[in-house]
Amino acid sequence: MGLQLRISDVWKSYDGCPILQGTSFTFDASGVYVLMGDNGTGKSTFLRICALLEKQDRGTVSYLSDGQVLPHDIALRRRVTLVLPKIGIFNKTVFDNVAYGLKLRGFEKEAVRDRVEKAVDFVGLRPKMKQPALTLSSGETQRMGIARALAINPEMLFLDEPAAFVDVKNRDIIEEVIVNLGREGETTVVLTTHDRAQAGRLSERLMVLENGLIRAD
Ligand SMILES: Nc1ncnc2c1ncn2[C@@H]1O[C@H](COP(=O)(O)OP(=O)(O)O)[C@@H](O)[C@H]1O
Ligand SMILES: [Mg+2]
Repeated sequence: MGLQLRISDVWKSYDGCPILQGTSFTFDASGVYVLMGDNGTGKSTFLRICALLEKQDRGTVSYLSDGQVLPHDIALRRRVTLVLPKIGIFNKTVFDNVAYGLKLRGFEKEAVRDRVEKAVDFVGLRPKMKQPALTLSSGETQRMGIARALAINPEMLFLDEPAAFVDVKNRDIIEEVIVNLGREGETTVVLTTHDRAQAGRLSERLMVLENGLIRAD
């Protein structure tokens, strides 16, 4: 078993406006979790806090492995990643964009190539590997962002509205990628959507964020 994430009594306000109000949740199995909620309820805020990119005002965010709480150090950060609804793109090829995190981590050239090829295969972008990333369609761009995250084999993968700005064809591909990740069972996927039908297609583990609290749906 990989990482367990335990969110306990987490509070967060912006400019005195309460967003998360003492919410708790435990992600304890591999597979796909879907967080739903209206616009502005705090889904993205919650994901950033879970992904250790932003600090909560109060409460605890604990990653555990074999029952031991792990320090929030670089080793842990490398096991966790967040993909935003609009990913950052470098003015380079798809290959180079997907390889980015691997190069940062000092992987050898061959290992980089193997992992990039596997990741672009997974999202159906293998034929586009040499294309300048800035010329991809928005759906393909989003798939590239997922490939970039997958290349580093994260144990916790947070996807913030992964199909929000894409057409139906790309949405279907992205949904298939997520379902396949769930089946493989090596990565815990936590994603947000405001599309209830999509949530139902992706998982049975549904959650709703409302009035600053998460509840199972
Ligand atoms: N860094 C920030 N500074 C000030 N307000 C923020 C910040 N991040 C988010 N907010 C506000 O917090 C609320 C929740 O935002 P968000 O987490 O993006 O919701 P959701 O993803 O559910 O649409 C919104 O009103 C948003 O404007
Ligand atoms: Mg959001």
